[in-house]
Amino acid sequence: MMNGDTYAQVPLAALTGSMRDFRVPGGADLLGRTEGFYRWQDLRRQNGLWPFSRATEDGPKTVCAAQDDRGNKMQGVNFASQDYLSLSSHPEIMATAIETIERCGVHSAGSPALVGNTSHSVALERKIAEFLNMDHVVLYPTGWGAGFGVVKGLVRSADHIVMDMLAHSCLQEGANAATNNIHLFRHLDNDYCRNILAKIRAKDKENGILVITEGLFSMDSDTPSLLELQTLCHEYNATLVVDVAHDLGSLGKDGRGHIGMQNMLGKVDVVMGSFSKTFASNGGFVASKSRAVKEYLRFYSAPATFSNALSPVQAATVLKAFDIVDSFEGRVLRLELLANVMTLRRELSEAGLEYYGDPSAIVCVKMGSEGLARLVSRHLPELGLVANLVEFPAVPKGAARIRLQVMANHTEQNIADAVQILKTARVEAEQELEELGTDKQPAKRIAA
Ligand SMILES: Cc1ncc(COP(=O)(O)O)c(C=O)c1O
Repeated sequence: MMNGDTYAQVPLAALTGSMRDFRVPGGADLLGRTEGFYRWQDLRRQNGLWPFSRATEDGPKTVCAAQDDRGNKMQGVNFASQDYLSLSSHPEIMATAIETIERCGVHSAGSPALVGNTSHSVALERKIAEFLNMDHVVLYPTGWGAGFGVVKGLVRSADHIVMDMLAHSCLQEGANAATNNIHLFRHLDNDYCRNILAKIRAKDKENGILVITEGLFSMDSDTPSLLELQTLCHEYNATLVVDVAHDLGSLGKDGRGHIGMQNMLGKVDVVMGSFSKTFASNGGFVASKSRAVKEYLRFYSAPATFSNALSPVQAATVLKAFDIVDSFEGRVLRLELLANVMTLRRELSEAGLEYYGDPSAIVCVKMGSEGLARLVSRHLPELGLVANLVEFPAVPKGAARIRLQVMANHTEQNIADAVQILKTARVEAEQELEELGTDKQPAKRIAA
């Protein structure tokens, strides 16, 4: 099968390298220096190894038609969308969206700092504050903007940021924009975090420290001890922010995510979240106990100040989603989601496939090498599974995975199909890779 620089009709360079290789391209030509990435990406694309930037035909349904960025069409079970309680197609939510459009049009037409708010967004702020027992809420046009905005809004250059090393891109980018004093601690390691806090405070009692973590990490499906972290923050005069993008609404009996499950409701300094995983819309929020923090962020957190507000239809959609999440129906949907998650995890194990983390809507199936994961992912469309490939630098090198995101509306058959397809794809990809031989893994890369 091996033939010069190709293997199973796959050029070896398409199985190696990573996006990290092109993050800092050299040269004076800002536009021209994007070419190295494009050449590598296109080599992968031409060989069916670029499973990103795909489009569904009719939205994120449990079974969907989709096309890749070459226009190749596929149909299959969908475990690649983030719609954990299946609210994006809930009849009451769709009816709310249609009514709101008929009454308000489709656009906020202004920043929330000016006149971009609507009765819906004001009601949504109140609802989230109540839901989290946090008093004050600022809305953002995206979850990403909320994460970036809360860090950049609160932290100045002399301050410090102490952050779980796997915190989401929005938090890392916010940190990079805010200060050079960034200290990463080992994932979930509160002792490590304590050491850093102690070292900082031994030298600097004057400036602020923002400690950043997540309620549920989106690649590993694991969670920190929030009480311990918040206690540490009080001890060292630091402020804790927790990103609850993935667990709020979808986890816990009452949908309060890990903050609720760890009995920390109303006790975390700052909670930041996104609507895009469970609440059927783009958008995000920052919640705190302080009116002063809310007013400050509204005018000193650029995505909340200089970007247009959530549209009325987005705000009304999210408000309705919170009502459902907070109702008996929400509880039933969470139970259905959890039942699906447990079935998926059990069937994966029975099929000999390992996965990361604790039970949640995120089930990342271990693959290992990037080459294997890419070959597995190449087989999925033809076999009828839409699922995301995750590889370095989003996760450590050699820990590539296929991320399955479960919805409440997935059926047992959808789950059985997904597991069977993944197993078949894995067996085929392993055979392909075995013929290559790991010792013959290509060093050759396309130049950046
Ligand atoms: C942990 C975390 N925070 C923030 C975001 C950003 O949210 P959004 O995609 O809604 O802008 C994401 C989304 O991928 C996320 O996973």
